[in-house]
Amino acid sequence: TELQRIIQGIPKTELHLHLEGSFEPELMFEIANRNNITLPYDSIESVKEAYKFNNLQEFLDIYYAGAQVLLHEQDFFDLTWAYLTKVHSENVKHVEGFFDPQTHTERGVAFDVVISGIHRALEKGKKELNISYKLIMSYLRHLSEEDAFKTLEESLPFKDIIDGVGLDSSEIGNPPSKFAKVFKASAAQGYKLVAHAGEEGPADYIWEALDILNVERIDHGNRCLTDEALIKRLVDDKIALTLCPTSNVALKVIQKMEEHPVAKMLDKGIVATIHSDDPAYFGGYMNENYYQTAKALNLSLVQIEQLAINGFEASWLSAASKEKHI
Ligand code: ADE
Ligand code: ZN
Repeated sequence: TELQRIIQGIPKTELHLHLEGSFEPELMFEIANRNNITLPYDSIESVKEAYKFNNLQEFLDIYYAGAQVLLHEQDFFDLTWAYLTKVHSENVKHVEGFFDPQTHTERGVAFDVVISGIHRALEKGKKELNISYKLIMSYLRHLSEEDAFKTLEESLPFKDIIDGVGLDSSEIGNPPSKFAKVFKASAAQGYKLVAHAGEEGPADYIWEALDILNVERIDHGNRCLTDEALIKRLVDDKIALTLCPTSNVALKVIQKMEEHPVAKMLDKGIVATIHSDDPAYFGGYMNENYYQTAKALNLSLVQIEQLAINGFEASWLSAASKEKHI
């Protein structure tokens, strides 16, 4: 359609992408085979059949299971490279991607193996696809703060290639305040800070991410609209929200796309942006997220372009690079 053509043409930035969430079933089977691992599925169709979720936790259980087949540097390279070639075809110019070290180190895969494969692909993408990047390591919030500290420690030899830390996994019952000390220590190491908040959890968790963790962006943040003072804070301080519309529908954060809060957020002056979260699981990369949202909410061309501009504004690109893209 014309709308799809317009969206394809807009240069975009991806600020909310879990690399493990870009693991397409086809590649999962290929890597499982070469690593002699048997998946609990007998076909790609039966994998896709299993991707029906009622909430975040049901998704996470399947997402962590899928990541178990990743063992070698080449596996992490292939995962990352497949993602980059996909979004290159969608006119994505810059990626700030998450990886979850603990998902791998917990099962005996060395931090070095994980980050080397990811980094090699990101560098290749920069040279061959002209996609610039930043890398964010996420602490798993269902694990202890002590475990996150161990991960921080393990990351230090790779400080030059990690730009920031994030916080993801099961939100409810694991508030940002649980990670106050490790975020402080991460900032002291020079890492930038973001956190998932207000996806399933309440507006209070967004306040905690801002006031206790001192993050500069909020991943998701859907639930902010229940709190006028919080809206004012986000607007005044230009705190970006990295929204993920197809994820929100797939995980039943909203019941249907027509209910997505992004249009209201733009109206209120919040720096809202659109991203894909875990595209292999939710059935949409960047353009599909833009398209479904624009269609369901009847967004104007100005609003669609604003979302893309906000993405660059909220990125960690230099002022000069931002200017080049906007
Ligand atoms: N890890 C991967 N995707 C996630 C999401 N949408 N929320 C929390 N943790 C995640
Ligand atoms: Zn996410």
